[in-house]
Amino acid sequence: MIISVLNQKGGVGKTTLAIHISHALVLKGYSVLLVDADPQGSARDWAAARANQPPFPVVGLDRPTIHRDLPALVKDFDHVVIDGPPRVSDLARSAIIAADLVVIPIQPSPYDIWAADQIIKLIQEASVFKENIKSVFVINRKIVNTAIGRDVVEALEQYPIPVLKASISQRVAFAESAASGSTVLETEKLGAAAKEVMALVDELMSLGV
Ligand SMILES: Nc1ncnc2c1ncn2[C@@H]1O[C@H](COP(=O)(O)OP(=O)(O)OP(=O)(O)O)[C@@H](O)[C@H]1O
Ligand SMILES: [Mg+2]
Repeated sequence: MIISVLNQKGGVGKTTLAIHISHALVLKGYSVLLVDADPQGSARDWAAARANQPPFPVVGLDRPTIHRDLPALVKDFDHVVIDGPPRVSDLARSAIIAADLVVIPIQPSPYDIWAADQIIKLIQEASVFKENIKSVFVINRKIVNTAIGRDVVEALEQYPIPVLKASISQRVAFAESAASGSTVLETEKLGAAAKEVMALVDELMSLGV
């Protein structure tokens, strides 16, 4: 399956989720390629910050030809995860057309909900080139023990895209693990953040894409 993690809004957790989804899939026994489609190169920086080999290869494809370039690369992998760029529409469009599933991280804030208009519009435009693009929202940085997560799910009901049951909370472990090119699945294997990531990936795998 090719999963594109996309949202034109910056800083919503695209790179964090793309890296964690990739690692979780590796821990489930799959071979995974992470494609860094962001000219900022954050996923490549993450891999470079590691002392050893990352648990999955990370390659940069940051031209709007991802959908053309990917087929030659994907045949060697069970799953490919694309870390999308903020803003750049032509790259995001290419990453949508390349994908079987578009995962849209969204923070529990009204600004993020309003900004979701943009990515939805882009997905609708891309459906001209590729029908039946499956896409889902995933709440990231939910504040533990608050009701705001529920409000966000209600606010997102105005959009034609479902919200996953699994969500990822705001946890310092995510930022800490990134600094060393690691993931919470390594640094806090049995922690709450790791459990949320595994539950997210279980739900993605159960979508039947
Ligand atoms: N669930 C979380 N808990 C705590 N910190 C988080 C969480 N998700 C992301 N972050 C932090 O928020 C910042 C932005 O996350 P990230 O870089 O993944 O977003 P992005 O959407 O890829 O940004 P960009 O649009 O610049 O590519 C990072 O410092 C990251 O460590
Ligand atoms: Mg990023």
